[in-house]
Amino acid sequence: MPKPLSVSFDTLNTKLNDCAVVLIDQDGKLPSRAKKLDKASDGHLTRVLEAAGFEGKAKSSVDVLALPKSDAKRIIAIGLGKVADMTRPDWMLVGGYIAGLLASRKVKAATLISEVASGDAEPHEIAADLAAGAQLRCYTFSKYRTEAKNDEKRPDVLEKLTILTDDVGDAESAFVETGAVAEGMMLARDLVNEPANALGPIEFAKRCAQLSDLGVDVEIFDADQLEDMRFHSLLAVAQGSARPARVAIMKWNGAKSKRAKPVCFIGKGVVFDTGGISMKPASGMEDMKGDMGGAACVTGLMHALAKRKASVNAVGLVGLVENMPSDRAMRPGDIIQSRSGKTIEVLNTDAEGRLVLADLLYYAEETFSPKFMINLATLTGAIIIALGKENAGLFSNDDTLAQRLTAAGETTGEKVWRMPLGAAYDKMLDTPNADMKNIGGRAGGSITAAQFLQRFVTDVPWAHLDVAGVAMASKKTDISQTWASGWGVRLLNELVASHYE
Ligand code: BES
Ligand code: MN
Ligand code: ZN
Repeated sequence: MPKPLSVSFDTLNTKLNDCAVVLIDQDGKLPSRAKKLDKASDGHLTRVLEAAGFEGKAKSSVDVLALPKSDAKRIIAIGLGKVADMTRPDWMLVGGYIAGLLASRKVKAATLISEVASGDAEPHEIAADLAAGAQLRCYTFSKYRTEAKNDEKRPDVLEKLTILTDDVGDAESAFVETGAVAEGMMLARDLVNEPANALGPIEFAKRCAQLSDLGVDVEIFDADQLEDMRFHSLLAVAQGSARPARVAIMKWNGAKSKRAKPVCFIGKGVVFDTGGISMKPASGMEDMKGDMGGAACVTGLMHALAKRKASVNAVGLVGLVENMPSDRAMRPGDIIQSRSGKTIEVLNTDAEGRLVLADLLYYAEETFSPKFMINLATLTGAIIIALGKENAGLFSNDDTLAQRLTAAGETTGEKVWRMPLGAAYDKMLDTPNADMKNIGGRAGGSITAAQFLQRFVTDVPWAHLDVAGVAMASKKTDISQTWASGWGVRLLNELVASHYE
């Protein structure tokens, strides 16, 4: 991972950097630190803001240059709008917005005066969220741009942000949490942005293994071991590729009782999905380098949980394969036997994600008997048609888990929308030739995919998140500017923090 923006916290009377940001809410009142600047300049700051017609509206800003008697050469007043309504994710977005504004001014080092009337969030939480938001905004994926130095528009010109606050200690400890989550998100982004020639199953598994630096216990299974473990459904997807499959299992044992049942996260990690013999059309196929977005989220989440030393036992499993056409590839019509013993008639080799997850879900439940298992997968194009890029599709056999996920989505802004499951949909997977087929037809494509997964869940609360619309080719926001969003890390961290620690 490239080094994230360096942020630090300091007291309100700290000397300002060359550029300082002052946050002002819609009542237009200056915070105490800004009042000091105003006084020292004989009211020049207020006069400039007034002359500019500044009213503290959200995302309005005024640059005040060469204010008399100020250490900062440039002071940027940024409007917040109605602070009382703002939630913690809103503050992250503000942090991102500020970092974007600073980068557009080519500022390298700035001081942010984080002194605002608190509404929903505490001042130290606000400071920490601003910091994490700024880091996420400054995330770039530019490792392959050898001429990037000449690119003036890069958002990572900002190198250092000092955040001034009343409670430095509390802000620092809050940032241990939000900073860990931001790091996990950036790790997930890195994995999704990376092209498939550089990130095959082996390379991905190596990135998982690196989590051992944080105290995560990582086990990697290679193709021979997976064969012994009868992961034939997962291996059927990998068999067309020259690059062999891997499964990585990451365990974080942070709960007081090491024997407490774990929570379990499972990710689809198709490093590239050509569709196999049922090949995809050429146009847009490059996006399928992101077909490991579910696995990236699980890896980023395990990073975040370990980095912030979450008091939970959590297991992350990722199935890493490449779906390629070749003389060895699985064919339409092939019948395979999954680890569960159930047989699958493969009618479309492009419905491969569910084949990967089938073995992982079955294995996870029998091995860990978890409190719940949640799988994430860029599983169907149909979920993008249904929900666009605003919500991930949520399918679950458990109302409590579904409600908790929905609530965590509202809290973090990583929203999910529950979709139906039911016997009539399940029936669409029946075939005379085997226990099931791997496609259910065009109608309700995301639902039949979820029904397929449910056939490999026996008796545990389970949720499936179809993240095809949110994990890759993502909408740009104030904290997300690259192709990959890192979606899901914040959502699942929130779920764990509010119910399982
Ligand atoms: N990885 C794709 C789904 C996908 C599509 C993810 C677009 C992100 C963007 C998945 O493996 C797939 O190919 N699904 C098929 C299923 C069909 C063959 C039943 C699909 O959605 O068309
Ligand atoms: Mn596919
Ligand atoms: Zn796929």
